[in-house]
Amino acid sequence: MPIRSRMAGTTAPPPSRIRRFSRAQRLLHLILAITFFGMLWTGLCLWSPALAEVMNRPLAKQWHLWFSIALGISFVLILALRPRAVGAFAKEVDNLDHADRAWLKGGLRRVLETDDAPEQGWLNAGQKLNTAITIGLLVVLTLTGILLWLGERNTTFRFSGSIDVHDIATIMIVVLVCGHLYLALFNRTTRASLSGMVDGTVDREWARAHHGRWVAESEAATDESPD
Ligand code: HEM
Repeated sequence: MPIRSRMAGTTAPPPSRIRRFSRAQRLLHLILAITFFGMLWTGLCLWSPALAEVMNRPLAKQWHLWFSIALGISFVLILALRPRAVGAFAKEVDNLDHADRAWLKGGLRRVLETDDAPEQGWLNAGQKLNTAITIGLLVVLTLTGILLWLGERNTTFRFSGSIDVHDIATIMIVVLVCGHLYLALFNRTTRASLSGMVDGTVDREWARAHHGRWVAESEAATDESPD
């Protein structure tokens, strides 16, 4: 769709790249990725006796705790400093519209095949679900983690199920992240999204094919950036 130039009402083709994620959103995602893999690695060292020889248990436990604290503090800081960036994302995830329901009717096939998918907004229904489930699992991991930490200090907080729930949530989030990494790094039709999390922009025509309604809305608005 051509964009009207400010000069003498002429029309110019829109730039080939479109802004997808703001700096604050990318920073939050980067911190999430680093702390996630940090917690995963230190968690594996706590779980496996073989890996405990690579990183001893007391050190792994300390780092495990610090990664989770770093994630929590970063989230609060970014939310406080850039509420619009976090708010825009939360609003998008919270809004499951008719296009999302149509997308979901295609089942799992939609994740890999986008040919006959209904036109999607900024995030498709699969991404909204991925975000909601990831956040839910992070909350479960935090709560059971706090109980495990408290349980080591006070028997009132020691519950036999805490560790099982912590482990099951870990397995679930690892499966989810593996699927997420496959789509972001390897799947032919979706890997063009990676630059959106690196420099903030994606190819406009790719975005039009995958998130057509979002591109149309961005082009209609004067400011394409979410923050
Ligand atoms: C180095 C590893 C990672 C890479 C390369 C990566 C890549 C990406 C990319 C490219 C997007 C944007 C997709 C789009 O344009 O719509 C994205 C979004 C997202 N990422 Fe990651 N990611 C990584 C790690 C993680 C981890 C560890 C988590 C969670 C624990 C995570 C959670 C999310 C969520 C919730 C979204 C928004 C919804 C979605 O696109 O599914 N990412 N990621």
